[in-house]
Amino acid sequence: MIIGFMYQWSLFATRAPFVEIPKEVLGDIVKALDVKPGSVVYDLGSGDGRVLEACYRVQSDAKYVGIDKAIVPHVYAKLRLRYRKIPSGAIKLLHKNFFKQDLSDATHVYVYLFPGLLKSLLPKLQKDLKPGTRVVSCDFEFPEEFKPVQVIDLNRPKGKRGRRLYVYEITNHQIPIINE
Ligand SMILES: C[S@@+](CC[C@H](N)C(=O)[O-])C[C@H]1O[C@@H](n2cnc3c(N)ncnc32)[C@H](O)[C@@H]1O
Repeated sequence: MIIGFMYQWSLFATRAPFVEIPKEVLGDIVKALDVKPGSVVYDLGSGDGRVLEACYRVQSDAKYVGIDKAIVPHVYAKLRLRYRKIPSGAIKLLHKNFFKQDLSDATHVYVYLFPGLLKSLLPKLQKDLKPGTRVVSCDFEFPEEFKPVQVIDLNRPKGKRGRRLYVYEITNHQIPIINE
């Protein structure tokens, strides 16, 4: 509890844009991602690692990679996963900028990022991701040229986080074209 408080305080103090997804919607995110045995799942901006943990508890036979450039969430996620008895190595946590990570082995990508960041990220997804990759974005849509295949309304009150999931799939014909 004390670590949790210090964590929240330090994020506030450094104005790091970390906001966790509410626990109530984790099950819906896991369902929307639909991770299969052998999948390679990235959480870009993984915060405290809760989304990957929830996925791992449902499907342990997959590779999980969480990337966060902020040191506080990164360290906190490491301690948290250890405390919650996730086997070491089951979820790989990288302290780096996700723009510098090769994502070409991904089969699933999860993001909970503001629209401006999604816009900057799209050309990278366009370049790195192979057809068939499933991308799930919580609450915020990618620019309109990248169309979701499904929008899941989580029926949560207005003003709450985790109200909608946007599900995208990269296909041969649907790789978004962005004019920068
Ligand atoms: C809104 S939080 C999402 C946390 C988690 N994915 C969740 O759903 O609970 C966004 C996180 O993205 C991280 N982030 C933002 N830009 C990043 C970048 N370029 N590379 C790595 N992490 C980044 C922030 O440090 C923050 O922890």
